[in-house]
Amino acid sequence: MKILHISAECYPAAKAGGLGDVAGALPKYLRDLGAETAVIIPKYRSKWIYEQSYEPVFQGHLSIAHWTVPFAIEKCGNPTLGFPLYMVNVPRLFDRPGIYNDPQTGQGYWDDLERWLVFQQAVLQWLLHHNPYNVFHCHDHHTGLVPFMIKHCRAYRALAHIPTVFTIHNGQYHGAFHWDKTFMLPDYDRDAGGLLDWDGMINPLATGIKCCWQLTTVSAGYMEELRAGSSGGLEWLINNERAKSVGIVNGIDTDVWNPKTDPLLGTHLNVNVADWKAKAKLFITQKFHLRNDLPLIIFIGRLVGEKGADLLPNLIHRFLSEGGEAVFFILGTGEQSVSDALMRMKSRYLGVFDTALMYNEELSHRLYAGADFLLMPSRVEPCGLNQLYSLRYGTIPIVRAVGGLRDTVSDIADEKGCGIQFAAFNETEALEALYRATDLYQQAEKWANLRQHIMQIDHSWKQSAQRYLNIYQDMVSRT
Ligand code: GLC
Repeated sequence: MKILHISAECYPAAKAGGLGDVAGALPKYLRDLGAETAVIIPKYRSKWIYEQSYEPVFQGHLSIAHWTVPFAIEKCGNPTLGFPLYMVNVPRLFDRPGIYNDPQTGQGYWDDLERWLVFQQAVLQWLLHHNPYNVFHCHDHHTGLVPFMIKHCRAYRALAHIPTVFTIHNGQYHGAFHWDKTFMLPDYDRDAGGLLDWDGMINPLATGIKCCWQLTTVSAGYMEELRAGSSGGLEWLINNERAKSVGIVNGIDTDVWNPKTDPLLGTHLNVNVADWKAKAKLFITQKFHLRNDLPLIIFIGRLVGEKGADLLPNLIHRFLSEGGEAVFFILGTGEQSVSDALMRMKSRYLGVFDTALMYNEELSHRLYAGADFLLMPSRVEPCGLNQLYSLRYGTIPIVRAVGGLRDTVSDIADEKGCGIQFAAFNETEALEALYRATDLYQQAEKWANLRQHIMQIDHSWKQSAQRYLNIYQDMVSRT
């Protein structure tokens, strides 16, 4: 069994969010189950990508509208990845520092449509020339047209028999564009045109859903939510495709996220959890001049509405101004209004609040290790990985009960609970959850036991990788 993941991100080469982590971890676990798995992404201009060596494996060119676009497929020479990683090199379109956004302006690239159309077709041209794979696994709207193209575009029809899996990591982004851009698509069967359409637009997410053999998303809870109102107008469609859809919760890469060996940590867990956590916390509180005697509550992630980041400034302000006893640290980038509000709070709450408005992988690992609680007040959360990293590093998650958060963080009111849940997305419920956390912190024994318990939970990819493998095998047996 050979599988190719087609993705916009893959850690450590390119990561904007959880998709990168998934594409960088699942292949290793599939390999351990005996399925050879490769990944292909665009070749961006990132430090990691430029430090590697490459072997060219294919050169071609494709036509898009009236342009001819030359491209090369290159195999990354890094031996530590654990799986073959290929990159599509299209200098004019991808040799840029950002994956989706220009880091200078924070805005999406203006030629996104062209970028993803070229990426998908370059992959297919390479596969036409040489395809050892039994399954193509596509992720999010950037690769949503692949299942359509192999079935309904003359140029790629030689691949039509290959089964496809389409995974939705984020149902908010559809990549939709107007029908007047049809001239940019490769020639397709006109009677299949309806498969491209949703609500009067060409909608790659919808097309992926319609044309794939198997539709998955990253938790069972989120699959329900996509059917009920979280897919930006695709609810009917996703309900309609119920027979081929399933939610499979993401796992974490326990080689990368291992408190005993994580190279991004200053101190490693030996035997004594309390001792290790105390040292890791001291590193953070000293570095950022925060009080060390109070529970440290962190937020890590994009400062956007989906993640509920707009709730943070008022919530923390209310908690601290009414005498709540905790220290807060926020790491992330995103909306200007949230960033500005957080910056203003820095001077107001010296010693109990700080923020680093950046993306910083190393600091994030240090924070997971050093914190007492992780707050995830998401409006929408397809799976969420941060709560899983935090459990593994003995940091108790406080989550809004939504999507994958509800599925993975049971409340401590239950016997085997591993975190604190709140139901409605509002300040009052989030505030109550913070008080439950600080109360728990006072109960030393309960607190220590819970910390031991959550670190033992197995959230590795093993089980979920097996579920994907079962799907691949089932599809291949039908060919
Ligand atoms: C997206 C989702 C996140 C999920 C990740 C990986 O980033 O927002 O919830 O964990 O994809 O599937």
